[in-house]
Amino acid sequence: MSKNKKLYIETYGCQMNVADSEVVASILKSDGFDLCSTAMDADLILVNTCSIRDNAEKRVIARGRQLQAMKRKNPELRIGIIGCMAERLSETLFEKLVGIDLLAGPDSYKRLPELLKEVESHKKASDVILSTTETYEDIDPEHYQTGNIAAFVSIMRGCNNFCSYCVVPYTRGRERSRPASSILHEIELLQAQNFKEITLLGQNVNSYYSTESSTEYRFPALLDKVATDFPEMRIRFATSHPKDLSEELVLVMANHNNICKSIHLPVQSGSDAILQRMNRKYSSSAYLKKIELIRKHIPEITISTDVITGFCGETDEDHRATLELMKKADFYYAYMFKYSRREGTAAAKMQDDVPEKIKSERLDEIISVQQELSLQSNKNDIGKTFEVMVEGCSKRSKKQMFGRTGQNKVVVFDAENLLPGTFVKIVITDCTTATLKGEMV
Ligand code: 5AD
Ligand code: SF4
Repeated sequence: MSKNKKLYIETYGCQMNVADSEVVASILKSDGFDLCSTAMDADLILVNTCSIRDNAEKRVIARGRQLQAMKRKNPELRIGIIGCMAERLSETLFEKLVGIDLLAGPDSYKRLPELLKEVESHKKASDVILSTTETYEDIDPEHYQTGNIAAFVSIMRGCNNFCSYCVVPYTRGRERSRPASSILHEIELLQAQNFKEITLLGQNVNSYYSTESSTEYRFPALLDKVATDFPEMRIRFATSHPKDLSEELVLVMANHNNICKSIHLPVQSGSDAILQRMNRKYSSSAYLKKIELIRKHIPEITISTDVITGFCGETDEDHRATLELMKKADFYYAYMFKYSRREGTAAAKMQDDVPEKIKSERLDEIISVQQELSLQSNKNDIGKTFEVMVEGCSKRSKKQMFGRTGQNKVVVFDAENLLPGTFVKIVITDCTTATLKGEMV
Protein backbone atom coordinates (compact mmCIF):
# COMPACT_ATOMS: atom_id res chain seq x y z
CA MET A 1 0.00 0.00 0.00
CA SER A 2 1.39 3.41 -0.91
CA LYS A 3 2.00 5.83 1.91
CA ASN A 4 -0.09 9.00 1.73
CA LYS A 5 1.71 12.27 1.15
CA LYS A 6 1.79 14.72 4.02
CA LEU A 7 0.15 18.15 3.81
CA TYR A 8 0.81 21.11 6.08
CA ILE A 9 -1.33 24.27 5.79
CA GLU A 10 -0.33 27.56 7.40
CA THR A 11 -3.13 30.05 7.78
CA TYR A 12 -2.68 33.82 7.98
CA GLY A 13 -5.37 36.48 8.37
CA CYS A 14 -9.03 36.28 9.17
CA GLN A 15 -11.54 33.65 10.31
CA MET A 16 -12.65 33.21 6.67
CA ASN A 17 -9.15 32.00 5.89
CA VAL A 18 -9.33 29.51 8.76
CA ALA A 19 -12.57 28.18 7.25
CA ASP A 20 -11.01 28.11 3.76
CA SER A 21 -7.98 26.13 4.95
CA GLU A 22 -10.42 23.54 6.28
CA VAL A 23 -12.05 23.33 2.84
CA VAL A 24 -8.60 22.91 1.26
CA ALA A 25 -7.71 20.19 3.80
CA SER A 26 -10.87 18.29 2.88
CA ILE A 27 -10.25 18.57 -0.88
CA LEU A 28 -6.67 17.33 -0.58
CA LYS A 29 -7.57 14.58 1.88
CA SER A 30 -9.87 13.19 -0.81
CA ASP A 31 -6.87 13.40 -3.16
CA GLY A 32 -4.76 11.17 -0.91
CA PHE A 33 -3.04 13.62 1.43
CA ASP A 34 -2.85 13.31 5.22
CA LEU A 35 -2.61 16.46 7.33
CA CYS A 36 0.52 16.76 9.44
CA SER A 37 1.22 19.12 12.29
CA THR A 38 4.64 20.56 11.41
CA ALA A 39 6.09 22.00 8.22
CA MET A 40 9.20 19.81 8.71
CA ASP A 41 7.19 16.62 8.08
CA ALA A 42 5.36 17.86 5.00
CA ASP A 43 5.64 16.87 1.32
CA LEU A 44 3.39 19.81 0.45
CA ILE A 45 3.19 23.13 2.33
CA LEU A 46 0.37 25.50 1.50
CA VAL A 47 0.39 29.04 2.88
CA ASN A 48 -3.08 30.54 3.00
CA THR A 49 -2.52 34.27 2.83
CA CYS A 50 -4.11 37.63 3.65
CA SER A 51 -3.75 40.90 1.72
CA ILE A 52 -5.80 43.20 3.91
CA ARG A 53 -2.84 45.26 5.18
CA ASP A 54 0.71 45.61 3.98
CA ASN A 55 2.19 44.12 7.17
CA ALA A 56 0.10 40.94 6.68
CA GLU A 57 1.69 40.53 3.25
CA LYS A 58 5.18 41.31 4.56
CA ARG A 59 4.88 38.51 7.13
CA VAL A 60 3.99 36.02 4.41
CA ILE A 61 6.89 37.12 2.20
CA ALA A 62 9.26 36.65 5.17
CA ARG A 63 7.79 33.19 5.80
CA GLY A 64 8.08 32.40 2.07
CA ARG A 65 11.82 33.06 2.28
CA GLN A 66 12.15 30.54 5.12
CA LEU A 67 10.25 27.99 3.05
CA GLN A 68 12.55 28.65 0.08
CA ALA A 69 15.45 27.67 2.33
CA MET A 70 13.63 24.45 3.30
CA LYS A 71 13.11 23.65 -0.36
CA ARG A 72 16.81 24.12 -1.15
CA LYS A 73 17.53 21.37 1.39
CA ASN A 74 14.67 19.17 0.15
CA PRO A 75 13.99 19.67 -3.59
CA GLU A 76 11.09 17.18 -3.42
CA LEU A 77 9.15 19.55 -1.17
CA ARG A 78 6.25 21.33 -2.91
CA ILE A 79 5.19 24.82 -1.79
CA GLY A 80 2.01 26.67 -2.69
CA ILE A 81 0.78 30.15 -1.92
CA ILE A 82 -3.00 30.25 -1.81
CA GLY A 83 -5.69 32.80 -0.95
CA CYS A 84 -5.77 36.58 -1.23
CA MET A 85 -2.06 37.22 -1.92
CA ALA A 86 -2.00 34.64 -4.70
CA GLU A 87 -4.96 36.50 -6.17
CA ARG A 88 -3.58 40.01 -5.72
CA LEU A 89 0.03 39.46 -6.70
CA SER A 90 -0.50 36.45 -9.00
CA GLU A 91 2.47 35.73 -11.26
CA THR A 92 4.82 38.27 -9.64
CA LEU A 93 4.91 35.99 -6.57
CA PHE A 94 6.79 33.37 -8.62
CA GLU A 95 9.48 36.02 -9.19
CA LYS A 96 9.44 37.32 -5.63
CA LEU A 97 9.66 33.86 -4.08
CA VAL A 98 11.68 31.62 -6.37
CA GLY A 99 10.95 28.00 -5.48
CA ILE A 100 7.20 28.44 -5.09
CA ASP A 101 5.48 25.74 -7.14
CA LEU A 102 1.88 26.71 -7.06
CA LEU A 103 -0.54 29.63 -6.77
CA ALA A 104 -4.26 29.25 -6.15
CA GLY A 105 -6.76 32.06 -5.55
CA PRO A 106 -9.70 31.74 -3.11
CA ASP A 107 -12.05 30.31 -5.75
CA SER A 108 -9.62 27.73 -7.22
CA TYR A 109 -9.30 25.26 -4.35
CA LYS A 110 -11.21 22.47 -6.09
CA ARG A 111 -8.56 22.59 -8.83
CA LEU A 112 -5.70 21.98 -6.36
CA PRO A 113 -5.36 18.24 -7.20
CA GLU A 114 -5.13 19.13 -10.91
CA LEU A 115 -2.72 21.99 -10.26
CA LEU A 116 -0.48 19.67 -8.23
CA LYS A 117 -0.34 17.28 -11.20
CA GLU A 118 0.60 20.20 -13.43
CA VAL A 119 3.40 21.06 -11.03
CA GLU A 120 4.86 17.57 -11.50
CA SER A 121 4.90 17.91 -15.28
CA HIS A 122 5.46 21.64 -15.84
CA LYS A 123 7.23 22.66 -12.60
CA LYS A 124 4.79 25.49 -11.87
CA ALA A 125 1.01 25.90 -11.86
CA SER A 126 -1.33 28.79 -11.18
CA ASP A 127 -5.07 29.45 -11.10
CA VAL A 128 -6.30 32.78 -9.77
CA ILE A 129 -9.55 33.01 -11.69
CA LEU A 130 -12.37 34.34 -9.51
CA SER A 131 -15.80 32.79 -9.71
CA THR A 132 -19.21 34.40 -9.27
CA THR A 133 -20.75 31.17 -8.01
CA GLU A 134 -18.22 29.04 -6.09
CA THR A 135 -19.31 28.46 -2.46
CA TYR A 136 -17.71 25.03 -1.84
CA GLU A 137 -21.20 23.85 -0.89
CA ASP A 138 -20.35 20.26 -1.83
CA ILE A 139 -17.26 20.07 0.40
CA ASP A 140 -17.45 18.94 4.04
CA PRO A 141 -14.58 20.90 5.61
CA GLU A 142 -12.05 19.15 7.86
CA HIS A 143 -12.59 21.04 11.11
CA TYR A 144 -9.04 20.60 12.37
CA GLN A 145 -8.01 24.08 13.51
CA THR A 146 -10.39 25.34 16.17
CA GLY A 147 -10.39 22.37 18.54
CA ASN A 148 -13.25 19.89 18.74
CA ILE A 149 -15.81 22.09 20.48
CA ALA A 150 -16.17 25.27 18.41
CA ALA A 151 -16.15 25.50 14.61
CA PHE A 152 -16.44 28.06 11.85
CA VAL A 153 -19.11 27.53 9.19
CA SER A 154 -18.77 29.62 6.06
CA ILE A 155 -22.16 30.83 4.76
CA MET A 156 -21.21 33.30 2.06
CA ARG A 157 -18.12 34.47 0.18
CA GLY A 158 -16.91 37.70 -1.36
CA CYS A 159 -18.01 41.28 -0.89
CA ASN A 160 -19.86 43.84 -3.02
CA ASN A 161 -19.41 46.84 -0.76
CA PHE A 162 -16.21 48.33 -2.13
CA CYS A 163 -15.24 50.28 0.97
CA SER A 164 -12.62 52.54 -0.57
CA TYR A 165 -9.69 51.24 1.53
CA CYS A 166 -10.44 47.55 1.15
CA VAL A 167 -8.86 45.00 -1.15
CA VAL A 168 -11.32 42.19 -0.33
CA PRO A 169 -13.77 42.76 -3.21
CA TYR A 170 -10.77 42.42 -5.57
CA THR A 171 -9.17 39.37 -3.94
CA ARG A 172 -12.33 37.46 -3.03
CA GLY A 173 -14.68 38.65 -5.73
CA ARG A 174 -18.43 39.19 -5.70
CA GLU A 175 -20.84 38.12 -2.97
CA ARG A 176 -22.45 34.72 -3.25
CA SER A 177 -24.28 32.65 -0.66
CA ARG A 178 -23.97 28.99 0.11
CA PRO A 179 -27.31 27.12 -0.08
CA ALA A 180 -29.03 26.82 3.31
CA SER A 181 -29.32 23.01 2.95
CA SER A 182 -25.53 22.70 2.65
CA ILE A 183 -25.02 24.91 5.73
CA LEU A 184 -27.55 22.92 7.78
CA HIS A 185 -25.91 19.66 6.65
CA GLU A 186 -22.51 20.85 7.86
CA ILE A 187 -23.93 21.85 11.25
CA GLU A 188 -25.62 18.44 11.56
CA LEU A 189 -22.24 16.78 11.00
CA LEU A 190 -20.68 19.06 13.62
CA GLN A 191 -23.42 18.25 16.11
CA ALA A 192 -22.91 14.52 15.51
CA GLN A 193 -19.21 15.03 16.31
CA ASN A 194 -20.20 16.72 19.56
CA PHE A 195 -19.29 20.29 18.61
CA LYS A 196 -21.03 22.79 20.89
CA GLU A 197 -20.51 26.14 19.21
CA ILE A 198 -20.57 27.39 15.64
CA THR A 199 -19.72 30.77 14.14
CA LEU A 200 -21.49 31.52 10.87
CA LEU A 201 -19.00 33.36 8.70
CA GLY A 202 -19.10 35.72 5.79
CA GLN A 203 -17.53 39.05 4.78
CA ASN A 204 -20.97 40.55 5.28
CA VAL A 205 -23.38 37.96 6.65
CA ASN A 206 -26.25 40.44 6.46
CA SER A 207 -26.31 40.15 2.68
CA TYR A 208 -26.82 36.38 2.86
CA TYR A 209 -29.54 35.30 0.40
CA SER A 210 -30.55 31.90 -0.91
CA THR A 211 -33.69 30.19 -2.15
CA GLU A 212 -34.40 26.48 -2.12
CA SER A 213 -37.63 24.65 -2.93
CA SER A 214 -39.51 27.95 -2.76
CA THR A 215 -38.17 28.84 0.70
CA GLU A 216 -36.30 32.13 0.73
CA TYR A 217 -33.54 32.68 3.23
CA ARG A 218 -32.13 36.05 4.10
CA PHE A 219 -29.74 36.15 7.05
CA PRO A 220 -32.35 36.60 9.83
CA ALA A 221 -34.33 33.61 8.49
CA LEU A 222 -31.20 31.47 8.20
CA LEU A 223 -30.10 32.36 11.73
CA ASP A 224 -33.60 31.64 13.06
CA LYS A 225 -33.60 28.24 11.30
CA VAL A 226 -30.14 27.31 12.62
CA ALA A 227 -31.03 28.37 16.18
CA THR A 228 -34.34 26.46 16.05
CA ASP A 229 -32.94 23.28 14.50
CA PHE A 230 -29.88 23.15 16.77
CA PRO A 231 -31.08 24.24 20.22
CA GLU A 232 -28.07 22.66 21.95
CA MET A 233 -25.54 24.63 19.86
CA ARG A 234 -24.22 28.04 20.82
CA ILE A 235 -24.39 30.24 17.75
CA ARG A 236 -22.26 33.23 16.83
CA PHE A 237 -21.86 35.05 13.54
CA ALA A 238 -19.47 37.53 11.89
CA THR A 239 -19.17 40.01 10.22
CA SER A 240 -22.09 42.44 9.92
CA HIS A 241 -21.97 45.62 7.87
CA PRO A 242 -23.80 48.26 9.95
CA LYS A 243 -25.75 49.56 6.94
CA ASP A 244 -27.42 46.15 6.46
CA LEU A 245 -28.17 45.28 10.08
CA SER A 246 -31.96 45.07 10.49
CA GLU A 247 -34.37 45.09 13.43
CA GLU A 248 -35.57 41.70 12.20
CA LEU A 249 -32.08 40.28 12.84
CA VAL A 250 -31.92 41.85 16.30
CA LEU A 251 -35.30 40.29 17.15
CA VAL A 252 -34.10 36.85 16.02
CA MET A 253 -31.06 37.26 18.29
CA ALA A 254 -33.28 38.35 21.18
CA ASN A 255 -35.69 35.42 20.67
CA HIS A 256 -33.19 32.57 20.93
CA ASN A 257 -31.26 31.73 24.09
CA ASN A 258 -28.69 29.81 22.08
CA ILE A 259 -27.71 32.82 19.91
CA CYS A 260 -24.84 34.53 21.72
CA LYS A 261 -25.52 38.04 22.91
CA SER A 262 -22.50 39.54 21.25
CA ILE A 263 -22.12 41.26 17.89
CA HIS A 264 -19.19 42.48 15.81
CA LEU A 265 -20.15 45.69 14.03
CA PRO A 266 -17.15 47.42 12.41
CA VAL A 267 -17.51 51.20 12.56
CA GLN A 268 -14.09 52.12 11.04
CA SER A 269 -14.36 55.84 11.92
CA GLY A 270 -16.50 58.22 13.95
CA SER A 271 -16.17 61.10 11.47
CA ASP A 272 -18.88 61.55 8.85
CA ALA A 273 -16.42 63.07 6.36
CA ILE A 274 -14.12 60.06 6.71
CA LEU A 275 -16.99 57.55 6.62
CA GLN A 276 -18.11 59.12 3.36
CA ARG A 277 -14.61 58.93 1.89
CA MET A 278 -14.42 55.33 3.05
CA ASN A 279 -17.70 54.66 1.16
CA ARG A 280 -19.25 53.09 4.26
CA LYS A 281 -22.78 54.33 3.42
CA TYR A 282 -23.75 55.34 6.97
CA SER A 283 -23.14 58.34 9.21
CA SER A 284 -21.88 58.22 12.78
CA SER A 285 -25.38 59.06 14.05
CA ALA A 286 -26.94 56.29 11.92
CA TYR A 287 -24.38 53.88 13.40
CA LEU A 288 -25.22 54.97 16.94
CA LYS A 289 -28.94 54.55 16.18
CA LYS A 290 -28.27 50.92 15.20
CA ILE A 291 -26.50 50.41 18.51
CA GLU A 292 -29.44 51.95 20.35
CA LEU A 293 -31.79 49.60 18.52
CA ILE A 294 -29.68 46.56 19.42
CA ARG A 295 -29.44 47.56 23.09
CA LYS A 296 -33.18 48.30 23.27
CA HIS A 297 -33.96 44.66 22.44
CA ILE A 298 -30.89 43.02 24.01
CA PRO A 299 -29.67 45.16 26.94
CA GLU A 300 -27.02 42.62 27.98
CA ILE A 301 -25.32 42.52 24.54
CA THR A 302 -21.64 43.25 24.05
CA ILE A 303 -20.62 45.08 20.88
CA SER A 304 -17.17 44.88 19.33
CA THR A 305 -15.82 46.82 16.37
CA ASP A 306 -13.00 47.55 13.92
CA VAL A 307 -11.41 50.99 13.71
CA ILE A 308 -9.01 52.33 11.09
CA THR A 309 -6.90 55.28 12.13
CA GLY A 310 -5.06 57.72 9.89
CA PHE A 311 -7.20 57.26 6.78
CA CYS A 312 -6.59 59.68 3.89
CA GLY A 313 -7.27 63.27 4.96
CA GLU A 314 -8.05 62.37 8.60
CA THR A 315 -7.74 65.55 10.70
CA ASP A 316 -7.36 65.87 14.47
CA GLU A 317 -11.04 66.70 14.59
CA ASP A 318 -11.96 63.53 12.66
CA HIS A 319 -9.79 61.54 15.05
CA ARG A 320 -11.51 63.09 18.08
CA ALA A 321 -14.89 62.21 16.55
CA THR A 322 -13.74 58.57 16.47
CA LEU A 323 -12.73 58.69 20.14
CA GLU A 324 -16.12 60.23 21.02
CA LEU A 325 -18.04 57.63 19.04
CA MET A 326 -16.12 54.80 20.67
CA LYS A 327 -17.14 56.11 24.10
CA LYS A 328 -20.78 56.63 23.08
CA ALA A 329 -21.00 53.17 21.51
CA ASP A 330 -19.33 51.70 24.59
CA PHE A 331 -17.55 48.90 22.74
CA TYR A 332 -16.36 46.04 24.91
CA TYR A 333 -13.63 45.17 22.40
CA ALA A 334 -12.07 46.67 19.27
CA TYR A 335 -9.62 45.60 16.57
CA MET A 336 -7.67 48.76 15.75
CA PHE A 337 -5.50 49.34 12.71
CA LYS A 338 -3.41 52.02 11.05
CA TYR A 339 -4.61 52.70 7.52
CA SER A 340 -2.58 50.75 4.99
CA ARG A 341 -2.73 51.84 1.34
CA ARG A 342 -3.76 48.98 -0.97
CA GLU A 343 -2.94 49.29 -4.67
CA GLY A 344 -5.98 49.09 -6.93
CA THR A 345 -8.52 50.29 -4.35
CA ALA A 346 -10.38 53.62 -4.67
CA ALA A 347 -8.47 55.02 -1.67
CA ALA A 348 -5.15 54.26 -3.38
CA LYS A 349 -5.97 57.26 -5.62
CA MET A 350 -6.40 59.54 -2.58
CA GLN A 351 -3.51 61.15 -0.70
CA ASP A 352 -2.24 58.84 2.07
CA ASP A 353 -1.32 62.07 3.83
CA VAL A 354 -1.38 61.28 7.56
CA PRO A 355 2.27 60.91 8.59
CA GLU A 356 3.24 57.52 10.05
CA LYS A 357 4.11 59.16 13.38
CA ILE A 358 0.63 60.70 13.68
CA LYS A 359 -0.99 57.38 12.67
CA SER A 360 0.91 55.70 15.51
CA GLU A 361 0.02 58.39 18.04
CA ARG A 362 -3.66 58.21 17.10
CA LEU A 363 -3.58 54.43 17.25
CA ASP A 364 -2.10 54.60 20.77
CA GLU A 365 -4.87 56.97 21.78
CA ILE A 366 -7.69 54.80 20.47
CA ILE A 367 -6.10 51.75 22.09
CA SER A 368 -5.97 53.49 25.45
CA VAL A 369 -9.61 54.68 25.17
CA GLN A 370 -10.64 51.14 24.27
CA GLN A 371 -8.73 49.69 27.21
CA GLU A 372 -10.65 51.94 29.58
CA LEU A 373 -13.94 50.90 27.96
CA SER A 374 -13.03 47.20 28.15
CA LEU A 375 -12.05 47.49 31.79
CA GLN A 376 -15.25 49.35 32.65
CA SER A 377 -17.35 46.82 30.72
CA ASN A 378 -15.70 44.00 32.67
CA LYS A 379 -16.10 45.82 36.00
CA ASN A 380 -19.83 46.15 35.31
CA ASP A 381 -20.02 42.34 35.21
CA ILE A 382 -18.74 41.90 38.79
CA GLY A 383 -21.49 40.28 40.85
CA LYS A 384 -23.37 39.00 37.79
CA THR A 385 -23.76 35.30 36.95
CA PHE A 386 -23.08 33.97 33.45
CA GLU A 387 -23.41 30.67 31.67
CA VAL A 388 -19.88 29.82 30.57
CA MET A 389 -18.82 27.19 28.05
CA VAL A 390 -15.65 25.53 29.30
CA GLU A 391 -12.82 25.66 26.75
CA GLY A 392 -9.84 24.25 28.65
CA CYS A 393 -7.27 24.54 31.42
CA SER A 394 -5.82 27.92 32.25
CA LYS A 395 -2.20 28.36 31.15
CA ARG A 396 -1.25 29.83 34.55
CA SER A 397 -2.49 27.14 36.91
CA LYS A 398 -3.61 23.52 36.68
CA LYS A 399 -6.25 24.27 39.28
CA GLN A 400 -7.95 26.83 37.04
CA MET A 401 -10.00 26.49 33.89
CA PHE A 402 -11.32 29.04 31.41
CA GLY A 403 -14.32 29.46 29.16
CA ARG A 404 -16.36 32.10 27.42
CA THR A 405 -19.65 33.80 28.20
CA GLY A 406 -22.31 34.24 25.52
CA GLN A 407 -21.07 37.85 25.46
CA ASN A 408 -17.76 36.49 24.21
CA LYS A 409 -15.78 37.37 27.34
CA VAL A 410 -13.12 35.02 28.66
CA VAL A 411 -13.68 33.89 32.26
CA VAL A 412 -11.09 32.17 34.46
CA PHE A 413 -12.31 30.18 37.48
CA ASP A 414 -11.13 27.55 39.96
CA ALA A 415 -11.98 24.06 38.67
CA GLU A 416 -10.27 20.90 37.51
CA ASN A 417 -11.20 18.13 35.11
CA LEU A 418 -14.24 19.72 33.50
CA LEU A 419 -14.65 18.55 29.93
CA PRO A 420 -14.33 21.22 27.23
CA GLY A 421 -17.84 22.00 26.00
CA THR A 422 -19.44 21.68 29.46
CA PHE A 423 -21.67 24.58 30.47
CA VAL A 424 -21.21 25.97 33.99
CA LYS A 425 -22.69 28.91 35.88
CA ILE A 426 -20.07 31.38 37.08
CA VAL A 427 -20.46 34.43 39.30
CA ILE A 428 -17.95 37.16 38.44
CA THR A 429 -15.78 38.28 41.35
CA ASP A 430 -12.94 40.24 39.76
CA CYS A 431 -11.56 41.32 36.37
CA THR A 432 -8.72 42.76 34.32
CA THR A 433 -8.99 44.59 30.97
CA ALA A 434 -8.88 41.29 29.09
CA THR A 435 -10.49 38.71 31.40
CA LEU A 436 -13.17 38.11 33.97
CA LYS A 437 -12.47 36.05 37.08
CA GLY A 438 -15.21 34.14 38.82
CA GLU A 439 -16.42 31.21 40.90
CA MET A 440 -18.69 28.31 40.04
CA VAL A 441 -22.15 28.58 41.59
N1 5AD B 1 -5.92 49.41 6.15
C1 5AD B 1 -6.17 49.21 7.45
N2 5AD B 1 -7.15 48.41 7.89
C2 5AD B 1 -7.94 47.81 6.98
N3 5AD B 1 -9.01 47.00 7.11
C3 5AD B 1 -9.44 46.66 5.89
N4 5AD B 1 -8.68 47.25 4.95
C4 5AD B 1 -7.75 47.98 5.60
C5 5AD B 1 -6.70 48.83 5.18
N5 5AD B 1 -6.44 49.06 3.90
C6 5AD B 1 -9.57 46.62 8.40
C7 5AD B 1 -11.02 47.07 8.55
C8 5AD B 1 -11.78 45.80 8.43
C9 5AD B 1 -10.83 44.81 9.03
C10 5AD B 1 -11.11 43.38 8.69
O1 5AD B 1 -9.58 45.21 8.53
O2 5AD B 1 -11.17 47.63 9.85
O3 5AD B 1 -13.04 45.83 9.10
FE1 SF4 C 1 -13.81 45.18 2.92
FE2 SF4 C 1 -15.92 46.81 3.35
FE3 SF4 C 1 -16.28 44.36 2.22
FE4 SF4 C 1 -15.60 44.55 4.81
S1 SF4 C 1 -17.51 45.31 3.89
S2 SF4 C 1 -14.69 43.15 3.28
S3 SF4 C 1 -14.27 46.34 4.83
S4 SF4 C 1 -15.15 46.10 1.32
